[in-house]
Amino acid sequence: MINSKRQFSPYEYLPFGGGARRCIGMAFAQFEMQVVLAEILSRCELGLVDHGEVRPRRRGLVTGPSRPIQMVLKGQRSVKSPSLEAISF
Ligand code: HEM
Repeated sequence: MINSKRQFSPYEYLPFGGGARRCIGMAFAQFEMQVVLAEILSRCELGLVDHGEVRPRRRGLVTGPSRPIQMVLKGQRSVKSPSLEAISF
């Protein structure tokens, strides 16, 4: 199980690679993820399909989850977070 409280060094977490061939879309991708996540999390009630163990697995240079982490849409949020409502995209 991944311990979410553990601090990772910059050399352990490399989703965009590193060095001279590092992903040129990194800044765009990270901003896009924030926008999409804010929209989804403010509108949708989500749940995990199962609570089975997910382990970190090496994929060449980078690390990913050992299996897909599937989620289900349980419904729409009736009360939106005021902090997220204040953000207009
Ligand atoms: C979550 C989104 C993304 C992830 C996880 C990701 C990840 C990566 C990784 C791991 C590499 C290889 C880096 C290396 O060899 O060290 C790469 C390269 C690259 N990525 Fe991304 N990427 C993402 C989004 C994007 C976007 C949105 C663009 C363009 C708009 C983009 C354009 C590129 C290009 C052109 C390269 C080749 C860079 C080179 O070889 O010099 N990526 N990306």
